[in-house]
Amino acid sequence: MDASMLEEVVQNPNPYPIVAALAYDDVWQLCLQARTLAWDAAVDIDWAALREATAGLPQEVREAGAEWWSLRAWMEHGAVPYGAERMRQAVFEHLPFEIKQHVANFMVEELRHHEASFRIADALGGYQAVPRSDYFQMIIPKYHDERDEKAMSFYAGMAVNTLFEQLSGELLTARYRNARFEPIRQACKLILRDEARHVLFGKILMRRFFDGLTAEEKELLGKKFAKKLRGSLLNGVYSVVNLPPDERRRSARARTLAAEYGLGATHPDEEVQIIADALKVIREDVAPHAVPIPIIPEIEGPDAAKRTLAAE
Ligand SMILES: [Fe+2]
Ligand SMILES: [Fe+2]
Repeated sequence: MDASMLEEVVQNPNPYPIVAALAYDDVWQLCLQARTLAWDAAVDIDWAALREATAGLPQEVREAGAEWWSLRAWMEHGAVPYGAERMRQAVFEHLPFEIKQHVANFMVEELRHHEASFRIADALGGYQAVPRSDYFQMIIPKYHDERDEKAMSFYAGMAVNTLFEQLSGELLTARYRNARFEPIRQACKLILRDEARHVLFGKILMRRFFDGLTAEEKELLGKKFAKKLRGSLLNGVYSVVNLPPDERRRSARARTLAAEYGLGATHPDEEVQIIADALKVIREDVAPHAVPIPIIPEIEGPDAAKRTLAAE
């Protein structure tokens, strides 16, 4: 074998000692809930009913819905490779059983959110395995940058991730309210139930670990949060504000159409408001731990409202 290839072989971490004694009872309670509240995206939602109920919608609307739910499916999938890296880290750092169990649950749950989302897209006329826009193909691989994750400790990084869970939970709640078709409502509701546990995990981490961080680590954490939000999540996933103008208009039009027909989407203006409100809550949540979150000008600045399609 070529020597340069040998260098690329990833070494498995030494798992020993493998810690079985429970250290965090509140995390273990979340694991027990996850077992009780497990659901199956293939069988617990009536996909045939969704297909039937949406068959008569205008083609343009079906396509807009399929594009929107494909995008949600790609986003949910982004949490899977992220979770896999965290699992490897949890093994390598000999973290207690309940932490590994939570990360395993998190991955399985995000994968079923992905599944529920692509099944909705399928019922609406076809899941798109690859984004049609070049821009999305470029931006989606950047949702999870392992270099940013590795710059933080395991618990700090996971806490940052759960701040995003909070944001996406608020957005999904609005999409649940928008959904006029029962199977889409059901999917949103089941996803939200899982996300509530992910958010709770973040709150536990903040309570347990944030006070042990140095001021520099806290500053880094706030910066990483802002970087991920501005650099990738406002580029079409949470909101369209940071997309290039052409793509912003096209994307905003598609999700406006999907929202008008109650396909579980949100109007671009509504999204900016939801993110602004959620950011306020997040700032309040991290305030007792003195984690400084930089201002997000696209959302919180004076010109924020002018950036979406409707206001142009
Ligand atoms: Fe999810
Ligand atoms: Fe989640």
